Amino acid sequence: MPDKVTSNGELKAELRIADKTWEVPVVVGTEDEHAIDIGKLRAQTGYVTLDPAYMNTASTKSAITYLDGERGILRYRGIPIDELAEKSTFVEVAYLLIYGHLPNKTELGGFSEQLTRHSMLHEDMKRFYDGYPGTAHPMAILSAMVLSLSSFYPEALDVKNRAEQEATIARLLSKMRTIAAFSFKKSIGQPFVYPKNNLSYCANFLNMMFSVPAEPYAVDEDIVKVLNLLLILHADHEQNCSTSTVRQVGSSQANLFASISAGICALWGPLHGGANEEVLSMLQAIKDDGSGPKKFVDLAKQKDSGFRLMGFGHRVYKNYDPRAKIIKVAADKVMQKMKQPDPLLDIAKALEEAALSDPYFVERKLYPNVDFYSGIIYRALGIPTNMFTVMFAIGRTPGWIAHWKEMMEDPTTKIFRPRQIYTGPPLGHYIPMDRR
Ligand code: SDX
Repeated sequence: MPDKVTSNGELKAELRIADKTWEVPVVVGTEDEHAIDIGKLRAQTGYVTLDPAYMNTASTKSAITYLDGERGILRYRGIPIDELAEKSTFVEVAYLLIYGHLPNKTELGGFSEQLTRHSMLHEDMKRFYDGYPGTAHPMAILSAMVLSLSSFYPEALDVKNRAEQEATIARLLSKMRTIAAFSFKKSIGQPFVYPKNNLSYCANFLNMMFSVPAEPYAVDEDIVKVLNLLLILHADHEQNCSTSTVRQVGSSQANLFASISAGICALWGPLHGGANEEVLSMLQAIKDDGSGPKKFVDLAKQKDSGFRLMGFGHRVYKNYDPRAKIIKVAADKVMQKMKQPDPLLDIAKALEEAALSDPYFVERKLYPNVDFYSGIIYRALGIPTNMFTVMFAIGRTPGWIAHWKEMMEDPTTKIFRPRQIYTGPPLGHYIPMDRR
């Protein structure tokens, strides 16, 4: 049923149930996406909609990121991802996502200064690491430590105080690095390395991760560039599972630290950000098996195998993930730079080729996603597999912050509380124990 335009120029759709017809508003996005606004559906018709996993449901309007899954388009505040990947830095992209425009020199300088000022952890928080086993997963530590920031900076609980929120945003964005690096040092039994104010965002992280007190550590600017690229590519992706979690938790007016801590937990899942870890295990298994990728492509097609090609497929992209394209090129460059060819990269390319020539994957439009090649670069940089999803979280932090802030500043925001269709037992009564 095509939209119809009413006398006052509004776009409407018609909904007919039995012998009754209702006009429902149609919302049109910047890129001509159309949505039926069902905000009054239940009040008007008594019906709700059912859409498990929100496959067809927009939970909000947003001005932050635009995705076109059919055409493989990704833009942050209207700027194409390939331009930002080539020309920008992670801190500049974080500012763009959070504050809505590319910063001028003064704005960028002030923002960078804020991040420099807030990079250290409270000394009492350092002691939290003593309680974790060396085998603790760094995503568990990251979520717990981010939540604990709300105990050390209680002013973050005043979610409507813009000035306090600026400081909270800077603290979170800056300390994510420190928390992550400290969890790596803990896992390898090395002393924590404090942030250095004379280093850039990514250089500071690399220094905290890889320098040791026993000898000088020179940050490699090429590696800084690659890290900026990876963090830019992960910075936002509209209403993905973890960002929707941040919005859901934040909609109750939970503070930023609590909302992002929940988002970190959602990202950890192997179907979401945890996939980058799983890709490496899958590639290693293919290497160890030795019979080549086709066996695993065939296994992934067998529903009962429980095996999927990790790093493949996407809820929105039904074309090549633009981020995966950029990371694949970067992976080649990193291998050349490190002069250490990684057999897993060759296996990944062979796996991609085998899958993309298989009707099962072609028919279902399953392409490599952001997680397929990223782990190969992290590994080449010396980052352990169990830190890959932490790297994803550091990259996604500005996106999570931007969506939480957009929601908090939207006067129409209401607490997220979906409906359900009840399928349990009809009215019953309590049965005393001797009659059960
Ligand atoms: C991220 O949402 C975002 O934007 C996420 C993200 C971001 O930046 O925030 O892009 C980051 O999470 C990327 C995705 C990382 N996850 C993985 O790589 C895990 C492997 N991929 C799949 O599990 C799957 O593709 C999902 C979870 C990514 C998407 O799942 P959907 O949209 O629910 O699709 P589906 O599971 O219903 O699959 C549709 C069909 C099914 O077959 P049929 O029932 O039609 O016969 O495709 C098949 C699936 O079995 N399928 C796969 C497959 N992915 C889907 N078959 C084999 N291998 C795969 N990887």
